[in-house]
Amino acid sequence: MSKPLLIGPFTQLLPMSGLPLKGALSDERLIIVEDGGIIVSEGKIKAVGVFEDLKPDATDIQYIEGNHVCLPGFVDAHTHICFGGSRARDYAYRNSGKTYLEIAKAGGGIWDTVTQTRKASQKNLVEGIVARSKAHLQNGTTTIEVKSGYGLSIDEELKMLRAIQEADKKIKIDLISTCLAAHMKPKDWPEDKNYLETIASQLFPILKSGGLTNRIDAFIEENAFSAKEIGPYFQKAKAMGFDITVHADQFTTGGSKVAVAFNAISADHLEASTEKEIQLLAKSDVIPIALPGASLGLGCDFTPARRLLDAGSALAIASDHNPGSAPMGNLLAQASILGTFEKLSNAEVLAGITSRAGAALNVLDRGTLEAYKLADFVVFPTNNYQEITYHQGQLRPNMVWKKGEKIYE
Ligand code: NIG
Ligand code: FE
Repeated sequence: MSKPLLIGPFTQLLPMSGLPLKGALSDERLIIVEDGGIIVSEGKIKAVGVFEDLKPDATDIQYIEGNHVCLPGFVDAHTHICFGGSRARDYAYRNSGKTYLEIAKAGGGIWDTVTQTRKASQKNLVEGIVARSKAHLQNGTTTIEVKSGYGLSIDEELKMLRAIQEADKKIKIDLISTCLAAHMKPKDWPEDKNYLETIASQLFPILKSGGLTNRIDAFIEENAFSAKEIGPYFQKAKAMGFDITVHADQFTTGGSKVAVAFNAISADHLEASTEKEIQLLAKSDVIPIALPGASLGLGCDFTPARRLLDAGSALAIASDHNPGSAPMGNLLAQASILGTFEKLSNAEVLAGITSRAGAALNVLDRGTLEAYKLADFVVFPTNNYQEITYHQGQLRPNMVWKKGEKIYE
């Protein structure tokens, strides 16, 4: 048994606990513990409260000097940080006015990244994931969801998912993998064979037996897969016990309806969602995930976060970090900017990258600071939590703890 260690005092400690999962949140709902402390033991939180009051329950104390705000470690619930190559050319083309079709014809788009990712060895992919994860850690992220989806064959999807599994073992941050073999129809797939059927019958069992993921994602869009095509694929995934998540309503609607029909954990993107989709999602248990990094990368509208919250939905915010639509990858900067454009309270933005993001990944052991949760927390050098979104990602954490261990300073 490790001795209970008290860490603090923190000028402000925001546990992000006790908040409702769904609906709008005003800042008055936030609990702010002044001169707070956390007792950690065995990688978990034993107690959270006023530093002085916690002293009798701790064997050791780690004092924090100066003004600091402490929050749960950030959870990035949607990324594609396993990839080869770069799409800087796509970005330049897009910004000079070239259309999606012109870019695809010039060899750009998702297929370009598929080609680059297939050329990369598993070792190269691991190195890329580790390097990107370290950059995310410096912005306070302690859990990252990572999708496959640039392999698009059984072997290449497996290479990606094995790279994610290997990278997870190399770093202290937790990586949560998702199979996105249904990202687009592979251009080189034989015409006489049904791609999704093959993936479901041949890849799904290997994912299960190899412990490679328990999450299945699909991109429902005109240039990817239709709602009709995805039906049997998701049915098979559900029957095998996988959690479902959907790339929905990014450019055209349709995906959110599928997400609701299959009781997906989350529906991500939703930039094109109209009132109809917003109401449908609000009545369901599906958690919408806004991806402001994709709006910034593509120069498109933001997810209607305000309307989703006002309709009664939960809302998580993730970076979508990927080489095509969201190359920036700074979750805190993007969440803060989404807040500015969508008029979100600090409570809504911060819950979107902590408690609600944990729920959107179905990892309920993190995202809040309370007893029995993982001791994952991030500390900013300021005396006022409002400074964090105000600086739009430029105020960086000076310490990050993961499972009770300080892993960044
Ligand atoms: O979430 N929308 C589809 N997939 C990714 C983009 C992937 C890419 O362009 O490489 C997204 O934005
Ligand atoms: Fe994505």
